[in-house]
Amino acid sequence: MNKVALITGINGQDGSYLAELLLGKGYVVHGMIRRASTPRTGHIDHLLADESLSDRFHLHFGDLADANSLRHIIDKTAPDEVYNLAAQSHVKISFDQPEYTIDVTGTGVVRLLEAIRNHMDHTGKEIRYYQAGSSEMFGSAKPPQSEMTRFEPRSPYACAKVYAHYQVINYRESYGMHASNGILFNHESPRRGEEFVTRKITRAAARIKLGLQKELRLGNLDAKRDWGFAGDYVDAMWRMLQKDAPGDYVVATAISISIRDFLEKVFDRLDLDWSKYVVVDPRFFRPAEVDYLLGDPSKAAAQLDWRSSTNITELATMMTDHDLKLAQAEARSSEPFTGR
Ligand code: NAP
Ligand code: GDD
Repeated sequence: MNKVALITGINGQDGSYLAELLLGKGYVVHGMIRRASTPRTGHIDHLLADESLSDRFHLHFGDLADANSLRHIIDKTAPDEVYNLAAQSHVKISFDQPEYTIDVTGTGVVRLLEAIRNHMDHTGKEIRYYQAGSSEMFGSAKPPQSEMTRFEPRSPYACAKVYAHYQVINYRESYGMHASNGILFNHESPRRGEEFVTRKITRAAARIKLGLQKELRLGNLDAKRDWGFAGDYVDAMWRMLQKDAPGDYVVATAISISIRDFLEKVFDRLDLDWSKYVVVDPRFFRPAEVDYLLGDPSKAAAQLDWRSSTNITELATMMTDHDLKLAQAEARSSEPFTGR
C-alpha cells in the first residue's frame, strides 16, 4: 500500500519540493490550498499536468484559520503523515498583521493538531505530524544555535512559531502523538517568494543586467543568515517522520553570511558591481531585527543522517541563472514587434 501524505502550503516553496519528493517515493499526496481569485498553483502546475500522477496527487480547499475545513480534509484523506508547511511566513509583514499571523501561524497549528487527534481517537489510526518551525524563533540568541538554545523571538511571526513549537511538544507528551518540530534555518531556491531578500536580489540583479531595472532598494544589509537549498531541506522533514520516535531537529548548513555578501555573490555572477545599484531604504527596516543566525545541525546529521548538499555560492548561482533566464524572456517579450 502506498503511504498517504497531506501537505498544507503545498503551493509554497517548500510544499512544491516536498510534493515532488514524496511522489517520487510512491506516496499518495494530498495538498491543501486556499481559494484565491487568481489561482496560485504555479509551483505545482507541472505535477497537476502530469497524467501519470492523476490518481496519486490531489488538491483540497482549506485554511488554517478554518477548523472545520481541517477536520474535513483529515477525515477525508486519512493521511499517514501530515506536513504542516502553511503559514503567514513573512517576518516583516507579521509586524503589519500580528493578529492574523498569530491566528494562522500559531493557533492554526492547534486547529490542525486537534483535527488529527480527533481522527486518531475515532479510527485508531496513527498520523505522524511535521511542524515547520523556524530559526527565527532563536531571534537574538547567541550563535551558533542548536536544539538546546533558548528561544528569544523578535517578531509576531517568531512568537507564533514558538507557540506552535511548544504545542507540538504538548501534543506529543499529552497524547503520545508522533509529532516533530523541524527548526529550519533560511532555505531558498528559484521558487522562493519574491518578497524574501535572496530572491528579491536575484530577480533585481538579473533585470538590472538586461536594462529592465535601474536600482534595487533594500533594508538592513548587515544581518547574517545561514542559507541552504529548499530541495535539501524537505528531505530532512521526511526523515524526521520516518524515525521510530518523534523529536525536534535543527536543519542548517552551519555557514552564515551577510546580505551584503550574498549581494556580492549574485552581482559578481553577472559581472556587475552591486554597490552601484543598491539603495538602502528605511522602508525595508524591521521594528526589531534578527542579526545573526547560524545553525548547528549536528543532531540532524547524527540521528537523521541528513546533510546540506548545496553551498551558498552554488545556491546564489542557481537562483541567479534561473532569474537571468526569466529576465531574458521578459526582455524578449518587451522588444518592439518589428513585423515582417
Ligand atoms: P511560503 O512559500 O510562504 O508558503 C507558505 C504556504 O502557506 C503557501 O502555500 C500559502 O498559500 C500557505 N498559506 C498561507 N496562509 C495560509 C492559510 N491561512 N491557510 C492555508 N494555507 C496558507 O513558505 P515556505 O518558504 O515554503 O515555508 C514553508 C513553511 O516553513 C512555512 O511555515 C514557513 O513559515 C516555514 N519556514 C520557512 C523557512 C524558509 O526559509 N523558507 C525557514 C523556516 C521555516 P498561498 O499561496 O495561498 O499564500
Ligand atoms: N525581505 C526582505 N526585503 N528582507 C530584507 C530586505 C528586503 O528588502 N533588505 C534587507 N533584508 C534583511 C531582513 O531585514 C532580514 O534580516 C534578512 O534580510 C532576511 O530577510 P527575509 O529574506 O525576509 O527572511 P527572514 O530571515 O526574515 O525570514 C525567512 O527565514 C525564516 C527562517 O529564519 C522566512 O522564510 C521565514 O518564514 C523563516 O522562518
